Amino acid sequence: MNILLLGSGGREHAIAWKLTQSPRLSKLWIAPGNPAMKDLGELVPQVDLMDLDAVVSLAERTVADLVVVGPEDPLAAGITDHLTTAGFATFGPTRLAAEIESSKDFANTLMSDFGIATSTSKSFDDPEEAKTFVRNCEYQVVIKADGLAAGKGVTVCNNLEEAETAIELSMVDRAFGSAGARVVVEERLFGRETSAHAFTDGITTRHLPFSCDHKPVFDGNTGPNTGGMGVYSPPGWLDEDTANRIQSEITERAVAAMAAVERPYTGLLYPGIMVTDAGPKVIEFNCRFGDPETEVLLPKLRTDLVDIFDAVANKRLADVDIEWDETATVGVIMASGGYPGSYEIGKPINGIKSLDQDVEVFVAGAQERNGALVTSGGRVLCVVASGTTVDEARNLAYQNIARISFDGAHYRTDIGKADLGHGV
Ligand code: AMP
Ligand code: GLY
Repeated sequence: MNILLLGSGGREHAIAWKLTQSPRLSKLWIAPGNPAMKDLGELVPQVDLMDLDAVVSLAERTVADLVVVGPEDPLAAGITDHLTTAGFATFGPTRLAAEIESSKDFANTLMSDFGIATSTSKSFDDPEEAKTFVRNCEYQVVIKADGLAAGKGVTVCNNLEEAETAIELSMVDRAFGSAGARVVVEERLFGRETSAHAFTDGITTRHLPFSCDHKPVFDGNTGPNTGGMGVYSPPGWLDEDTANRIQSEITERAVAAMAAVERPYTGLLYPGIMVTDAGPKVIEFNCRFGDPETEVLLPKLRTDLVDIFDAVANKRLADVDIEWDETATVGVIMASGGYPGSYEIGKPINGIKSLDQDVEVFVAGAQERNGALVTSGGRVLCVVASGTTVDEARNLAYQNIARISFDGAHYRTDIGKADLGHGV
């Protein structure tokens, strides 16, 4: 089978690595990919994933039997609709289904109509109305740009002043462009966060293990939020009853709700969850694999990933049983100094080939210069190790990441330390 994988981050590196383990794969094309993936498939670096016609032409040129879409932006733009109209089996939701992530307003209406627990929320098109609302609010708030804002459109506010500033920044200064013209004001939830992932073809849903991302840039969950600085799976603190409730009352209910509103959901559904004193509640839905969650989930997958993608895209997931290793996995991100603020690129990456055999490195932000890898992004790479416990996996990940270096490199030293407070 010829597969065309779209994307270029650590998530796509992990997907490509897993796909190449399949006996069903004849040829893997990765667009645009990054140079660290070149041994896994043929890269098509010059493609713009937001140019939907160009992607369809690429699918034709590569004679793709299946297209796998990594990131959310092309999904929100309707890449799946384009590809399926042109006759290509595609792993990823349609434009209308992807609105579960791309429109917080749509997601909130869906949750309210179908009894999916989340925070109370209200959306505003007028900044003065939004400010009046937060001034009269009895709870702490989170201000969210309604559209996609590359992970930056969310401000968790500690007081009224921060809330008013966030409204001004999004709606008046347009810091997130048109994505922030409308904001959603949400009640701030307190508790522990976990990422739920599930494959679904709209009818059958198969859950992946739970995992926990660490968003803030510094140890102890301090500093600004990033795309994710590290991840572990499974969370030992998540009890079975809560896990079951997340799967049935949130993920499966959302899949049924999407079918009921005639936006059948296929692909990977990833609800971000806060486990509160009042039970699990949705923070947000994502219409694709998490990054860096994917990097710690796929190494545990025993089943052929080609079988899963193929079954989802062709709506016969009921035929596939999915098996997972019971191991714990930890992934630690090495980022450029200064990230998530400004940072320099072009720093040579050393030591990537000196890792233990069973430890993986998935690269997100690198390019090639004179045949060597140099940094090209904020999050540069993710080192992933396995163990019988999260502690064991964490120790191995840290022993190995210490062998990698580049000028200004930064990583958190407490990924997977389950004793941390909110957000871990
Ligand atoms: P997002 O970019 O939507 O993933 O949100 C970034 C982070 O903001 C989440 O991972 C949470 O830690 C936090 N967050 C978002 N919404 C809420 C909420 N309603 N209550 C508390 N924290 C939130
Ligand atoms: N891990 C956060 C995300 O993928 O959105």
